Amino acid sequence: MRIGIIGSGMMGSTLGTLWAKAGHEVRFSSRHPETLDGLVQKVGANASRGTVDETAAWAEVIFLGVPFSAMPELADRLAAPLAGKLVLDANNVIPARDGALVDEVKLLGHGSGGWTQKRLPKSSVVKAFNTVHFKNLADAAHREEGRMGIPLAGNDARAMKKAEGLVLDGGFEPILVGDIATSARFDFGTKVWNSNMTGAQVREALGL
Ligand SMILES: NC(=O)c1ccc[n+]([C@@H]2O[C@H](COP(=O)([O-])OP(=O)(O)OC[C@H]3O[C@@H](n4cnc5c(N)ncnc54)[C@H](OP(=O)(O)O)[C@@H]3O)[C@@H](O)[C@H]2O)c1
Repeated sequence: MRIGIIGSGMMGSTLGTLWAKAGHEVRFSSRHPETLDGLVQKVGANASRGTVDETAAWAEVIFLGVPFSAMPELADRLAAPLAGKLVLDANNVIPARDGALVDEVKLLGHGSGGWTQKRLPKSSVVKAFNTVHFKNLADAAHREEGRMGIPLAGNDARAMKKAEGLVLDGGFEPILVGDIATSARFDFGTKVWNSNMTGAQVREALGL
C-alpha cells in the first residue's frame, strides 16, 4: 500500500519505519522535505520523501501525526486530495497545548477523531495509535506475547478493516472500539491512554 506520512516526527517516523519494514511503500512528508534525507536513507528501499501536498495526493492511506493546532489549516488544505482515502489519525488534543481546540472537540462531543472526520468529510477517518508513546511503539512492535493493543474507531467498515491490517503489519493487536465518536473513549486522559496495555487489557478496560 502507498502510505503517506503527514508529520514525520516522533510518531510518523516510527510508524512509517514499521510499515516500510512490513513491505509498504512509505512517503514521509515535511514542510522542509530535505530534512528527511537521513530518515529516508535509514529506512531504505521502501521509503521516499515529499512535500505535504505531494504526499497527500500520492498516498492511498494517510497517517496524521501533527500537533492538533496545525489541523484546522491542514484539514482545509488537504480535504480534497484526501477525499475517498483512509486517514489514520494519531493526533491528541491536549489541554495545556491546544487551547481553544480542546473546547471545540469537547463541544462537538465525538472525540478527537470525530473532529477530524468532520473536517475531512469525504475521507474515512480512523482514530488509531494516539494512545501509545512513540518509544513504546518502537520497543513493543512484533512482541512475541501479549501484543500491545491499539484501539481503533471509525465509521466506515472497509476503512476499519484496512486500518486493522496496518496495525497488524506494525506488530500490534487491533481493537475495534466502534464508530468515530467512540474515539472519545481512548482520547488523551482516558484509562487506556498512555497505559501500554496489551490487547486483552484494552478490551477489558473498555468493556469490549
Ligand atoms: N510523541 C508521542 O509519543 C505521541 C504518542 C501518541 C500520539 N501523539 C500525537 O501525535 C501527534 C504528533 O506527535 P509527535 O510527537 O510525533 O510530534 P513531533 O515529533 O513534533 O512531529 C510533528 C510533525 O508535525 C509536522 N508539522 C508541524 N506543524 C505542521 C503543519 N502546520 N503542517 C504540516 N506539518 C506540520 C512537523 O514536521 P515539519 O516541521 O518537518 O513540517 C513535525 O515533524 C501529536 O498530535 C501528538 O499529540 C504523540
